[in-house]
Amino acid sequence: MENALRTASYVSKVAERQVALKATSATLLTGVGACVLEIGAGHGHFLTAYAAAHPERTCVGLDIIAERVERANRKKNRARLGNLHFLHASAEDFLASLPENIRFADVFVLFPDPWPKRRHHKNRLMQADFLSQIAAKAGQGLRLYFRTDDTDYFAAARAVVMEHPAWQILDAPWAFEYETVFQERAPGYQSLVAALRG
Ligand SMILES: C[S@@+](CC[C@H](N)C(=O)[O-])C[C@H]1O[C@@H](n2cnc3c(N)ncnc32)[C@H](O)[C@@H]1O
Repeated sequence: MENALRTASYVSKVAERQVALKATSATLLTGVGACVLEIGAGHGHFLTAYAAAHPERTCVGLDIIAERVERANRKKNRARLGNLHFLHASAEDFLASLPENIRFADVFVLFPDPWPKRRHHKNRLMQADFLSQIAAKAGQGLRLYFRTDDTDYFAAARAVVMEHPAWQILDAPWAFEYETVFQERAPGYQSLVAALRG
């Protein structure tokens, strides 16, 4: 009984969070064209530089750590970027609550948590369901940019993209270079660019 109550309370909290997020996304992203999404934006270095270089594009960065989102928003405010928004939200909640009319142009996933233990691989972001969710929100010419310093995660992510019926790996350059905090610390990294199949 206690378990059932706990589950019900958890489910209702998730639902509340997603309702609030849906309203925020609708306010920020309706009528702006296809937007640029960064998942796990950390302190916002990359997306702030990207938004400054692309003032015509609306950019959204997500992170689950509130303090990182606050720092990212301070950066955005200092740079006076009206086309940039950092939200304290998980990719899962954000995608599940996205209003029907919102589309993505580019999606960046830079140095996501690698979850190296086999039993934790299920927590990795780059999974078939994630690719399907992004594909369902594709704007014209959608590209997915993925970069990691974890060789095992890179190989797994590459395989997930190649096995997905909607996606293919492109031989295309990285869209925009700006070193992230984790990139600066990494001894090396690998990148892939993916697009929907023609
Ligand atoms: C390893 S850090 C990389 C941060 C930044 N991209 C960089 O390269 O410096 C991964 C970030 O992803 C965030 N994160 C982890 N899971 C997430 C999720 N499901 N949705 C959104 N952000 C997530 C973490 O809080 C963390 O800030």
